[in-house]
Amino acid sequence: MSEENKKIIYSAMQPSGIPSLGNYLGALKNWKNLQNEYNCIYAIANMHAITVRQDPTELRKKTRDLLTLFMAIGIDPEKNILYVQSDVKAHAELAWVLNCFTYMGELSRMTQFKDKSAKHADNINAGLFTYPVLMAADILLYNADLVPVGEDQRQHLEITRDIAERFNNIYGDVFTVPDGYIPKVGARIMGLQEPERKMSKSESDNDNNVIYMLDDLGRAANKIKRAVTDSDNEVRLSPDKPGISNLLNIYAAVTGKSAEEAEGEFVGCGYGEFKKCVADAVIEELRPIQERFKELSSDKAYIDKVIKDGAEKAAYIANKTLRKVQRKVGFPV
Ligand code: TRP
Repeated sequence: MSEENKKIIYSAMQPSGIPSLGNYLGALKNWKNLQNEYNCIYAIANMHAITVRQDPTELRKKTRDLLTLFMAIGIDPEKNILYVQSDVKAHAELAWVLNCFTYMGELSRMTQFKDKSAKHADNINAGLFTYPVLMAADILLYNADLVPVGEDQRQHLEITRDIAERFNNIYGDVFTVPDGYIPKVGARIMGLQEPERKMSKSESDNDNNVIYMLDDLGRAANKIKRAVTDSDNEVRLSPDKPGISNLLNIYAAVTGKSAEEAEGEFVGCGYGEFKKCVADAVIEELRPIQERFKELSSDKAYIDKVIKDGAEKAAYIANKTLRKVQRKVGFPV
């Protein structure tokens, strides 16, 4: 298929620290796989990140590290557009216009806003409230057809569609109304210590619950060996065996097998041996990514260039959409 006929995929991730194995197997690994079939645009959402307080030096580092990590995973900056959100001014400009086409009532219904304002009660800022509008601007600037998002962002994608349709109803066909992208294989990885809940850095204080993509590999293996299981010593998928089921899902996602195939491989295997196999598979997956990350990080000039080129490519597309919008609403352009 020629480049022009490919559908456009847009997604973004906040630079809130090194992604977990759950983020990787649930999202990032897919992002890499989509790059052949689609025109992919991936952003580091650092403007979204400042809706909660950040240390500036840390945020700059995390932004750069996350972009570098995307590349280390195999997301090719030549084939895709990989950029930092704040480098493209059109995001802030379109977000303002879209703010004027979004209702307080709809934003008040966003469950993430409710959750985050409960969590950051001392800093319920307007940015936290209008966060979904910025996200809509991200997506709509690039005429995205498809947006791979997790469950927690579904409502934000819905409001993006509503805003786009509302604007189009008034001004004609300006925006592409995006659909969610549901991956054919998508792993939902749970915590190693709390397998009833998603593996997520913010959800737990227990460091053994989460494997981070840049964890020391020995430490990552230990976390798997300490993962909670149950007492019947049978490796099988079952809702009443959340720990073992999760490890099977991790193994399956890493090796590209189905969970059932994975289950079949470990019939009659004890927990100790099973965990070792899972740990080995995870380590072999992470090792080359970590090596590549190290290598890329040491080439500062190259990363600078990728960031600069990405911003230019993104701005070219974004500015076209922005100009169209500005013309429609009556700005002198
Ligand atoms: N809000 C998303 C998250 O926290 C990140 C994000 C920002 C995003 N802009 C986006 C995701 C546009 C998809 C499309 O996960």
